[in-house]
Amino acid sequence: MIKLWSTFFVVTLLTCFVANNVAEQCSLSAKGSPNFPANFSFGVATAAYQIEGGWNADGKGPSIWDDFTHSDPEKIRDKSNGDIAADSYHRFEQDLQALKELKVNHYRFSIAWSRIYPTGDISSRNQKAIDYYNHVIDKLIANGIKPMVTMFHYDLPSEIQKIGGFTNSLLINQFVVYAIELFENYGDRVKTWITFNEPYDYCHNGYGDATYPPQVYAPGVADYLCIDNTLKAHAAAYRSYQSRFAKTQGGKVGITLDSRYFFSKTNDEDVIDRAMQYNLGLLAHPIFSKTGGYPDVMIMDIGANSQKEGRIRSRLPSFKGKWRDIVKGSADFLGLNYYSSRYIKPASKPNGVSPSWERDFNCDASIDPKWLRAASDWLYCVPEGLEGILKFIRDEYDNVEVIITENGWSDDGTGLIDDDRIRYLKSHLQAVLNAINDGCNVRGYTTWSLIDNFEWLRGYTEKFGLYAVNMSSPNRERTAKKSAGYYREVIQKRQIPSLF
Ligand code: NOJ
Repeated sequence: MIKLWSTFFVVTLLTCFVANNVAEQCSLSAKGSPNFPANFSFGVATAAYQIEGGWNADGKGPSIWDDFTHSDPEKIRDKSNGDIAADSYHRFEQDLQALKELKVNHYRFSIAWSRIYPTGDISSRNQKAIDYYNHVIDKLIANGIKPMVTMFHYDLPSEIQKIGGFTNSLLINQFVVYAIELFENYGDRVKTWITFNEPYDYCHNGYGDATYPPQVYAPGVADYLCIDNTLKAHAAAYRSYQSRFAKTQGGKVGITLDSRYFFSKTNDEDVIDRAMQYNLGLLAHPIFSKTGGYPDVMIMDIGANSQKEGRIRSRLPSFKGKWRDIVKGSADFLGLNYYSSRYIKPASKPNGVSPSWERDFNCDASIDPKWLRAASDWLYCVPEGLEGILKFIRDEYDNVEVIITENGWSDDGTGLIDDDRIRYLKSHLQAVLNAINDGCNVRGYTTWSLIDNFEWLRGYTEKFGLYAVNMSSPNRERTAKKSAGYYREVIQKRQIPSLF
């Protein structure tokens, strides 16, 4: 009997220790007011290829993600694809039901370019697709949910890829024509537009290390060209909105950038700044800084490296003619996707291959083994990093308006009791509130994701949803996880409830 009791005692003690430890790892203490501002907007996000399915329904044309998952299924961890996914194209009502339950203020979703223009070009305009998104937008508005629309979330129409995709400057005009189509059809009701989602990722992975479609392996060259054309396409779309729609429609146009925040074990401010410029700054500096153009540190390094490689000009394009001014100031807000952070130090030996972004950056990143890890191997809970990056944006970019357009936690989908996701949510909301209390101009927060979905190279093995999706049922039923209830309470109270 004594033995039994002592075992019980040890197990209880251990459980408490582990629970406390986990809580400590993924928490942040409060500074200042416990209330979110009255007009602060809470939402959830998804993206077309990850949830819609209906990959060739009603005249939709193929995108590079359709092509890639069909031709190289072994490159997706579970050999899956987005052909059906959560079938949101046919089951939007189920998503709407979840959105209503959560009582979100906004819903961020993306429009599939190759639905609207199956070949990427206006000549293929598809009315059925225009109608589909009209229906989605109308239903959201009828239920008091503001639509926040991403125009491009990785799924480039295949026909545009055939002529070089983001490495061909023709894309700038093609994107503007597509953007104008969206402003004309939906701008009476959509007041928050995001041109591009995470350009660093689709450029670096698509044209640098070639792990994403279009799998062009030209590191340190084509990835920078992709970023350059993205910035110009974004700015040209923004300028079109300003001159033709802003007055009558009164909406805002921004771009969503992703970045980690960086810490230094030796308090080396220079290396922190270098890391921020190479990650967030590469795209943010040309748009949001006072001077415009790429960050000085990148212009200098990449220029010098290019010269050493025997080139006659830098691999980092320079904005020629008026482009620098067109891009500078071309956004009403910065959409921020924040997931995790790293420690950083100057590289001990040359990083990556030559040439590449990695070699140009030339820093070593590491993690703190105490950080709590999600199902995704890159995702650690570091809420201090969100507070840090928001303050960096406040100081570096003149306190521009920020909307957090993604932040979320993955699990392996084995249960509905997702306490770690709740810890992550709670601590990151605290980071946002602390930053607001410290003068940061943050206007909204968006959890990734409303429902479990196709997580790119990880297929359906890593799940970010507040709602689980029954992938083995044709009806794809959505079921609330515990975190959905927690988030609903946040939204109702406009405060951060204590845990459990
Ligand atoms: C950011 C991307 O925008 C989204 O598509 C992805 O699923 C999440 N990160 C999680 O990796």
